[in-house]
Amino acid sequence: MSLHDCRLIDLPRITDVRGNLSFIEGGRHVPFDIKRVYYLYDVPGGETRAGHAHRALQQFVIAASGSFEVILDDGSNRRTQALNRSFFGLYICPGIWREMVNFSSGAVCLVLASEYYDEADYIRDYEAFRAYARRRE
Ligand code: TYD
Repeated sequence: MSLHDCRLIDLPRITDVRGNLSFIEGGRHVPFDIKRVYYLYDVPGGETRAGHAHRALQQFVIAASGSFEVILDDGSNRRTQALNRSFFGLYICPGIWREMVNFSSGAVCLVLASEYYDEADYIRDYEAFRAYARRRE
């Protein structure tokens, strides 16, 4: 459960003069079975999304259109990952604080998730997250 476990994953690309196609199969291209899909869109310029961690949820985040940045924080280290093409995505393991910033106009953030929505899985307070990360070490 550290930043090293969060990684970019390249997706299959079927290139075609009619337009390209990529696909994702649960358990194959992402390391979990996909239970839920959601997407963020119409994000006003300058807005921040997320700003929380998950205890158990695994996610795979794709810039289906446009671009944005994901700030990842494991309680000790922080890094920023830019997502700007729809043929790769970012795997986020459990226990990582994340914020999503710098959405371009028209950006669509597509998220594949390993679990159904469960508010009890969220840690929404940063200091509570830091304490959780310290206990985990
Ligand atoms: P939240 O996960 O806090 O948004 P983000 O992290 O993308 O900024 O969710 C915002 C609201 O939407 C919150 O009230 C819970 C609700 N929600 C669902 O009902 N189902 C879902 O699958 C998700 C992701 C959120």
